[in-house]
Amino acid sequence: MNFVDYQKNVAQLNLWNHSYHVLDAPLISDAEYDAAFRELQTVEQENPDWLMLESPTQRVGDVVSSAFQKITHTVKMLSLANAFSIDETVDFFIKAAKELAIPLESLEIFSEPKLDGLAISLRYEKGLLRYAATRGDGEVGENVTHNIKTIQSIPLKLNTKTPPEILEVRGEVFMTKAIFEQINQLAQTQNSRAFVNPRNAAAGTIRQLNPKIAAERALQFIPYGIGEYSGEREFLRHSEIMAYLATLGFRENTNCHHFFAAEIAFDQDYQRMETLRETLPMEIDGIVYKIDDLNLQQKLGFISRSPKWAVARKFPAQVMTTTLLDVDFQVGRTGVLTPVARLKPVFVGGVTVSNATLHNMDEIERLNLCIGDSVEIHRAGDVIPKVVKVVAEGEARRAIIMPTHCPICDSRVKRVDKQAAYRCSGGLKCAAQIAERIKYYASRDCLNIRQLGAKLIEILCEQGVLTSVADIYRLTLDDISTLDGQGEKNATKILAAIEASKHTKFSTFLTALGIPEVGESTGKLLAKHFQTLGKCRAADLETLVQIPDIGEITAKNVRHFFDDEAQNQLVDNLLAAGVYWDESENESLENTQPLAGQTWVLTGTLSAPRNEIKVILERFGAKVSGSVSAKTTCVLAGEAAGSKLTQAQNLGVNIIDETQFLELIENL
Ligand code: IVH
Repeated sequence: MNFVDYQKNVAQLNLWNHSYHVLDAPLISDAEYDAAFRELQTVEQENPDWLMLESPTQRVGDVVSSAFQKITHTVKMLSLANAFSIDETVDFFIKAAKELAIPLESLEIFSEPKLDGLAISLRYEKGLLRYAATRGDGEVGENVTHNIKTIQSIPLKLNTKTPPEILEVRGEVFMTKAIFEQINQLAQTQNSRAFVNPRNAAAGTIRQLNPKIAAERALQFIPYGIGEYSGEREFLRHSEIMAYLATLGFRENTNCHHFFAAEIAFDQDYQRMETLRETLPMEIDGIVYKIDDLNLQQKLGFISRSPKWAVARKFPAQVMTTTLLDVDFQVGRTGVLTPVARLKPVFVGGVTVSNATLHNMDEIERLNLCIGDSVEIHRAGDVIPKVVKVVAEGEARRAIIMPTHCPICDSRVKRVDKQAAYRCSGGLKCAAQIAERIKYYASRDCLNIRQLGAKLIEILCEQGVLTSVADIYRLTLDDISTLDGQGEKNATKILAAIEASKHTKFSTFLTALGIPEVGESTGKLLAKHFQTLGKCRAADLETLVQIPDIGEITAKNVRHFFDDEAQNQLVDNLLAAGVYWDESENESLENTQPLAGQTWVLTGTLSAPRNEIKVILERFGAKVSGSVSAKTTCVLAGEAAGSKLTQAQNLGVNIIDETQFLELIENL
């Protein structure tokens, strides 16, 4: 093969890719594509100096070494104002029309589904993808090119013979509902953490250091605009830009619409999109209405960080009505009984819902909920289904009663002091608590025995092989390899992971014991304070309460745990099984909290009370201050933020909105 043939092959593979991933119209079979891809790889290995940046083999590169580099956007990446009703939508455009001194009805609107993912800017120079950056604070984002290149619907080279000098394509990276379900199912079997929604999964994937993971997760990209542009073509309308991007090889946002601004037109468009929502392969959280005329867009400009020519009409949480068939009580790791609603299956927000947590008995009382009632189900943020109210009382409604005895071990159920929770008193005699304790011990936040997944633990518990956490270290090849779907090879891997878990950290060990209220951060606090297990075990209530950030309840739980003979025996058994840590590796608190040393300021209207957000930030080690100064690390700005925002802008302090904040917290 010569270089010209190689070039032709690269172009051919890119064309096949485009047909498959952008047009949804494959030209060849997967096997044929794979064979051609492998051949290209061989040719490139034999002729390394031929390698072209746009070769499809370049999509999955090397792991990036550390945190992502910062990239300053040459044209700011803006956000959108929100409208939550038809009135707010119409008002938005009445204001725009007034400012332009033209009638509302003359405004031509382009409506687009609002894709629920994360904003990315792709910079093409002379037609070649140079880098991709996240939105960040709108001015400075992070370089995530290594993961973006794995997205097959993003061309590495624009499909044109006359590429613009510079073109920044802006759009949304997202995960389809189907892929989301698939990776969460896989996460369940592999004992890794499931994502709460497709947006979260896409954001988490883009922040991976290893592009192989992104490649496996098959993200998609759809553009919604451009940033910096220097090219020959002139555009008069936003919709023309969108059509041009499609010719360059991008996916089109389907179901877009043109209409003249009028209340009835917005209303019809909203109804249309709401009906379509369920049938779309990706999550959308609203509709974006844009004035199509670029000249008018330019005249209107921006306010704060959003354009005055576009607004996002957000969908409310999805709602459905169904019947509460029954309530079961699930016993958790610490014995707390959680009421779970068993519902007549109902399709909400793209999934069939048949269960919903009811949290606790206070919640049931607040809802005045009985079995047999017709209830309204919400999927807030399209995530966890929630029973929000009783729509109609059932004819033969039956009260929901907390059982007096544990449904699993029959021990007495007791109300936890002054709290809404009830707890099974069976402790380590309760099979449900044991199974949950083992799952927790092996989970990602604890000993992280990835191969020992929740399903496998359940089976081993049911079979009586695992009867306590320490039994993990007594598992044999036979115990595992004889199970369905496990084989010797897998069993060997699992045993190796168990063996490797024996070397841990003191704080991880304390966390993994499953003491009520002692999660990762409290485990770290205790480890830091006591430094040795002996001292922690012997600490009296007074000493425990005096540790900063350890409240009375937690202190009592710790003391109670180490006063319990069975729990103490478990600790000894784990140590006897070979679990150990190096005391010299004990962490100091300062570098264990991800936001330690940072000062944050909250301003504007946020969707949760400020106090709640403050607690979240403090939990991660940040301080929250009431005023902005040069020492402020970051300002979280909600809607209608005022002088603090201006001050932060003047001082060049990092500013983020709520979406970015949630993204950040979820990734900590
Ligand atoms: S336009 C200057 N169009 O929504 C206007 N944004 O809530 C820039 N989004 O940051 C945005 N679909 O990440 C636009 N069809 C669409 C969109 C869209 C999703 C995201 C985008 C933006 C966020 C604002």
